[in-house]
Amino acid sequence: MDFISLCFLLAVLIFSCLLLKSIFKFMSLGHVRLPLPPGTMGWPYIGETFLLYSQNPNTFFASKVKKYGSIFKSHILGCPCVMISSPEAAKVVLVSKAHLFKPTFPASKERMLGKQAIFFHQGEYHMKLRKLVLRAFMPEAIKHIVSDVESLALSSLESWEGQTITTFQEMKTYAFNVALHSILGKDELQYREDLKRNYYILETGYNSMPINLPGTLFHKAMKARKELAKILAKILSVRRETKQDHNDLLGSFMEDSEGLTDEQIADNIIGVIFAARDTTASILTWILKYLAENPTVLQAVTEEQEAIKKCKEKSGEDTTGLNWADTKKMPITTRVIQETLRVASILSFTFREAVEDVEFNGYLIPKGWKVLPLFRNIHHSPENFPEPEKFDPTRFEVSPKPNTFMPFGNGVHACPGNELAKMEILVLLHHLTTKYRWSMMGPQNGIQYGPFPLPQNGLPISLSKK
Ligand code: HEM
Repeated sequence: MDFISLCFLLAVLIFSCLLLKSIFKFMSLGHVRLPLPPGTMGWPYIGETFLLYSQNPNTFFASKVKKYGSIFKSHILGCPCVMISSPEAAKVVLVSKAHLFKPTFPASKERMLGKQAIFFHQGEYHMKLRKLVLRAFMPEAIKHIVSDVESLALSSLESWEGQTITTFQEMKTYAFNVALHSILGKDELQYREDLKRNYYILETGYNSMPINLPGTLFHKAMKARKELAKILAKILSVRRETKQDHNDLLGSFMEDSEGLTDEQIADNIIGVIFAARDTTASILTWILKYLAENPTVLQAVTEEQEAIKKCKEKSGEDTTGLNWADTKKMPITTRVIQETLRVASILSFTFREAVEDVEFNGYLIPKGWKVLPLFRNIHHSPENFPEPEKFDPTRFEVSPKPNTFMPFGNGVHACPGNELAKMEILVLLHHLTTKYRWSMMGPQNGIQYGPFPLPQNGLPISLSKK
């Protein structure tokens, strides 16, 4: 072969390699445009936000699922997004490919709760926080506070006796007090009122326009946030001086050998209060409504709780003193909690964001798009739960199909406070059903969103001793 032919052959080889390389590159994700999921994006910028918020959000999601199937695209709150309503797809986003979908919140919410709070993070920092939070909320840790939670439940119930109360408001106070106790232990009593006052100002600004000018709700909320951080700094400095061990969340944060800064601790404590209070209070409110509407279920729960009381009386135990083991002898009441979590599905969905272009069931989810696993649709699908609108706790006598029941989420961000939430609900229901009766006042069919779905007007009830 002469020199010219050799050069020619080499040139052909190099050209072929380059061509092949560009074909591979072209075919790789993002270049061969996989189709976007079906669906409509609505108007420029506003997308389908008004459509979503002008009706019951569940109607919006249900009609989309009917039209486009379990994966569809939309555009809400200024963001393109993909909504998913199949258990398998939700598992991919939340568990098996969780690293491709980071948690995402509006910047104003991050500022208000604190940028260093657990919800906003992925990776190493998130894992470190999660370990510390789980250490404080796992059964082994919270079993020691059952009697303290019980005292809080008893004093709440006593204060409602003979009154008409707004259930949600009162449950918020109960859930707040339990959360503070699990975070600060006995220290909470001294600081409870100051923390409560500032936290309540903070929450009024949470859903306000994020305009940080004197006089705005947002500005007041940011000031209250600073106050909360100051109070927490005070508690931290007292604890550092006294050098005692504490079996609560603050203790867990302070023990960390790698050390969290005071700012990281404050952001996470405010974050945990935020995660713990309205969620638990909403579920308690729905439970009282469903029990009042379903006398046979209420009867079964009451009998189960009476049996625990009688058993303790027989064995000579103190009847007010519930313990962790007692809370594990409440299968009927536990199923009422599960069914309420399912029917009410207070967290209808959660938000994630694709960190890169992701191929998903033959569709492309472009980098930066939001991804919303629709918990409520999964919980209300007749394929997963026959007659889904019916309140029927007995359906939980059999375990639900895998990944179809996710009231506490799934995967690396699943709720670390779920054991505490269940325990505080069981303790309150024990004393409520054995000692009190209640009836609902006013209209009972409406639902309000604030932001969780709630019975109309927070469920006014009148409560009296049996
Ligand atoms: C019935 C009450 C509750 C419900 C329904 C609930 C539900 C949830 C859900 C669905 C998530 C996951 C959100 C997501 O993946 O985006 C979550 C996360 C979280 N929850 Fe709960 N929760 C409840 C009570 C509590 C309580 C009592 C605490 C604390 C004491 C708590 C602390 C947290 C925290 C810190 C996270 C973030 C975890 C992370 O990002 O790793 N929750 N919760």
